[in-house]
Amino acid sequence: MKIIRTKDYKDMSRKAANIISAQVILKPDSVLGLATGSTPIGTYSQLAEWNQKGDCDFSHVSTYNLDEYRGLTHSDPQSYHYFMRVNFFDKINIDLANTHVPDGANPDAQAACSHYDQIVREAGYPDLQLLGIGRNGHIGFNEPDDHFSKGTHCVDLTESTIEANSRLFEKKEDVPRQAYTMGVQTIMYARMVLILASGPEKAQAVYDMCYGPIAPSCPASILQLHQNCIVMADEAALSKCPAAE
Ligand code: F6R
Repeated sequence: MKIIRTKDYKDMSRKAANIISAQVILKPDSVLGLATGSTPIGTYSQLAEWNQKGDCDFSHVSTYNLDEYRGLTHSDPQSYHYFMRVNFFDKINIDLANTHVPDGANPDAQAACSHYDQIVREAGYPDLQLLGIGRNGHIGFNEPDDHFSKGTHCVDLTESTIEANSRLFEKKEDVPRQAYTMGVQTIMYARMVLILASGPEKAQAVYDMCYGPIAPSCPASILQLHQNCIVMADEAALSKCPAAE
């Protein structure tokens, strides 16, 4: 793991956008694995700005998002389909036909998940996988468990994740209880992983990811075994880690 310490959220977002932009410049038809949540919003808006200036061309890029709430339609403002349109896809010159998010609107979990695995596999897996980290160490919606997951599957969200995500809903009861998520094995197949973390509430998860045992109780800890993983985190998120990083 390479840990990059940034001053704050803005600095983290800009540096992360630089890495993604370099990836797309070096390989215009890159396959990007993408995340939702608050963390990557600044990165997406920086990339959109560069795209509008003509500096970062997404016309040949294809994207595969990590996860989606089960039971939400694509146009539901709380869905990750909607999030990606509003925060990124509608602001850049990507062909929407090349963007993919698990189909939370399909009630048949088995069919939705195996179809997603198939298209990610056929795309050759991401060149670069962008991740955020949950306060409990989750990546995608791979929650702490007694084993690491493999392919895309349906998960029951933990109380801690429901609580954390309720800030984006009117009330906690509105947060869907299940999601479809790429598995840990699929994430590990990405040729580069860029995981972002900002703020003190992520400090323990970042410490566990980087220095704790490699265990499914902290799903992100498996990234210690990835050959090309960059942890890009701000001072607050790295506050429990050794100062040398
Ligand atoms: C989102 C996702 C999640 C988030 C994580 C952090 O697609 O896969 O793992 O990255 O929950 O969320 P934020 O960034 O909102 O703190």
